[in-house]
Amino acid sequence: MVDVTSLQQPSAKLRRLVVVGLGLIGGSFAKGLREKALFEEVVGVDRDPQSRRLAVELGVVDRCEESLEVACRDADVIQLAVPILAMEKVLAELAGYDLGNAVLTDVGSAKGNVVRAAKAVFGGMPARFVPGHPIAGSEQSGVEAANPTLFRRHKVILTPVDSTDDEALMLVDRLWRELGADVEHMEVEHHDEVLAATSHLPHLLAFTLVDSLAKRSENLEIFRYAAGGFRDFTRIAGSDPVMWHDIFLANREAVLRILDVFRDDLDALRDAVDSRDGHQLLGVFTRARVAREHFSKILARRAYVDAMHNNDLIYLAQPGGRLSGRVRVPGDKSISHRSIMLGSLAEGTTEVEGFLEGEDALATIQAFRDMGVVIEGPHHGRVTVHGVGLHGLKPAPGPIYLGNSGTSMRLLSGLLAAQPFDSVLTGDASLSKRPMNRVAKPLREMGAVIETGPEGRPPLTIKGGQKLTGMHYDMPMASAQVKSCLLLAGLYAAGETSTTEPAPTRDHTERMLRGFGYPVEVQGATAKVESGHKLTATHIEVPADISSAAFFLVAASIAEGSDIVLEHVGINPTRTGVIDILKLMGADITLENQREVGGEPVADLRVRSAKLKGIDIPEDLVPLAIDEFPVLFVAAANAEGRTVLRGAEELRVKESDRIQVMADGLLTLGVKCEPTPDGIIIDGGAYGGGEVWSHGDHRIAMSFSVASLRASGSIRIHDCANVATSFPDFLGLAAGAGIRVAAEGN
Ligand code: S3P
Repeated sequence: MVDVTSLQQPSAKLRRLVVVGLGLIGGSFAKGLREKALFEEVVGVDRDPQSRRLAVELGVVDRCEESLEVACRDADVIQLAVPILAMEKVLAELAGYDLGNAVLTDVGSAKGNVVRAAKAVFGGMPARFVPGHPIAGSEQSGVEAANPTLFRRHKVILTPVDSTDDEALMLVDRLWRELGADVEHMEVEHHDEVLAATSHLPHLLAFTLVDSLAKRSENLEIFRYAAGGFRDFTRIAGSDPVMWHDIFLANREAVLRILDVFRDDLDALRDAVDSRDGHQLLGVFTRARVAREHFSKILARRAYVDAMHNNDLIYLAQPGGRLSGRVRVPGDKSISHRSIMLGSLAEGTTEVEGFLEGEDALATIQAFRDMGVVIEGPHHGRVTVHGVGLHGLKPAPGPIYLGNSGTSMRLLSGLLAAQPFDSVLTGDASLSKRPMNRVAKPLREMGAVIETGPEGRPPLTIKGGQKLTGMHYDMPMASAQVKSCLLLAGLYAAGETSTTEPAPTRDHTERMLRGFGYPVEVQGATAKVESGHKLTATHIEVPADISSAAFFLVAASIAEGSDIVLEHVGINPTRTGVIDILKLMGADITLENQREVGGEPVADLRVRSAKLKGIDIPEDLVPLAIDEFPVLFVAAANAEGRTVLRGAEELRVKESDRIQVMADGLLTLGVKCEPTPDGIIIDGGAYGGGEVWSHGDHRIAMSFSVASLRASGSIRIHDCANVATSFPDFLGLAAGAGIRVAAEGN
């Protein structure tokens, strides 16, 4: 009997592993586990005497048996690594033997057929059979190529069924992990669909493209001139024909389903070429290119993270330094989001410059691409949006994933509530914790049908085809996202839609709607739209983001001897609370070269270091500096005396609970501070270095980088990958300006 718990103790051994089929995969599995010495012996079975001899000679197994029955008697684990179409025969043979309590597993690259075969020969799925599939291989084959590290950092998918014994599953899972594999569990059908799409279809296309060109003699010439593109695309047509023949027969249904989908898309592309439909072609190509870039980024990030052996991107910020030079921080996040949304709904082509190429704004681009809008770029901050008009969006093919971006989710919910189709909006772990009732509730009052997850959190499921009715909404909280969400819904709702905010919040939506020629009436705290108008494409120049500039405003203020200019920063009065607060604290900030671009005021900000003093932050400035508080807390820690913040409970529901997470980090560094329900009290003074956690919150990670300028020791900041959501080149710009921060290990 296998005792799984004994596996946890390195000395406790299992008795026997039997590997049936000594090819590359079976041989590598056997050799790897033999080296780990988890079993008293590893026994190989293979029809080919040569392979059996080599397996022993090369130390792949301890010994070989010719007879399957003899090898499997009293085995603890039996691994079937035979070709997929031979699986049924081997299973039938095994069904005739007494396997005792042995755990059975396999490595077939399609799983439905293996499970069907097992059910047929055993008269039901044996509880101790755990189907598996390592996604690994090599150009080499045979037992000679057996490599104990073949599975390291490769995915292995296990596909247990309902009746699979948990203990058997845990054991197989653990064996693969011992070999360094990244194990996932999946349903059989799902596995076969995923593999049909990601592996089997590309092989089919490569084989058929080469064959189709090669068999026409007039085309033979093509090979003579074949360039890199052809070679890259057809590399996998060099794979083992017999193995692939087996795989297509084994995974027939799933392959046919995805092939039909692909054929439809190919036909549509053919029609587009035929009818000279450049718009359609550009749509397919831009979407594909972005999807591929996104995919390579995910892979790159994974490789990086793998190298670190965990999920943590750590910033190491060294003490000291001062800032100088001229810096242009990336484009404004709020304006970038809105440029895509309104550009998509406009008639005509909108050109955007200075667009923020951060993950949040890219999530908005992807959402609109998913809904059929052709968007070119971003390339060096330039984006071209081919608007489809207010009624031209199409249903996305699946749930729209918005990553970390609360703005995307809340603004889109208003827009999508009014569309004729259903939508589902999802996000990452942080976004999935954020409150969505603040938009769902008023939208429902307008007639929208929206479901949230538990406690009003994402995902949002929005039912299309509802007739919305305009209304007036007195907002309970000062939120530009709620205001913008309702105004966007108001573009479609019958009659007028208006909001009154309890305190001024950023007004980019109102300004940009007007820029697109859509009338918006603003009177005091009330903004009003009426449906029935249209948006006309325009040119948008996105100013540099004052929220990103804020890190440098504080950094230059606190680091003695600093003198820096931040270029082309947006100074919309609904965003400049950070400048006002810092000035109240004694900062030396001057606005130079003030001008207006595309309806938004901008200026160059010159900052010189200054002695800061603690203040009571005026509550009316809170919504105007809502995103800058993490770094303002760092300013307070460096000020003389006490700073008190009140009326900022909204900070508790941002990308993290910014009051608590900042307080935790500051306390670690030795700053005297005390969080309160709606703010914080900070006593400025000297502080040291230490280990702090950003909890995936970009602004917290950057704030502690700034804190290092005045720390007496280095600060290690955990969980910094999300800096890429709003400030992709933060490390480069920060280091260039004089902040001594870098990714650990670089
Ligand atoms: C934003 C509004 C603010 C802000 C967020 C961006 C926007 O959120 O914190 O980063 O673009 O409308 P709230 O509306 O929740 O205050």
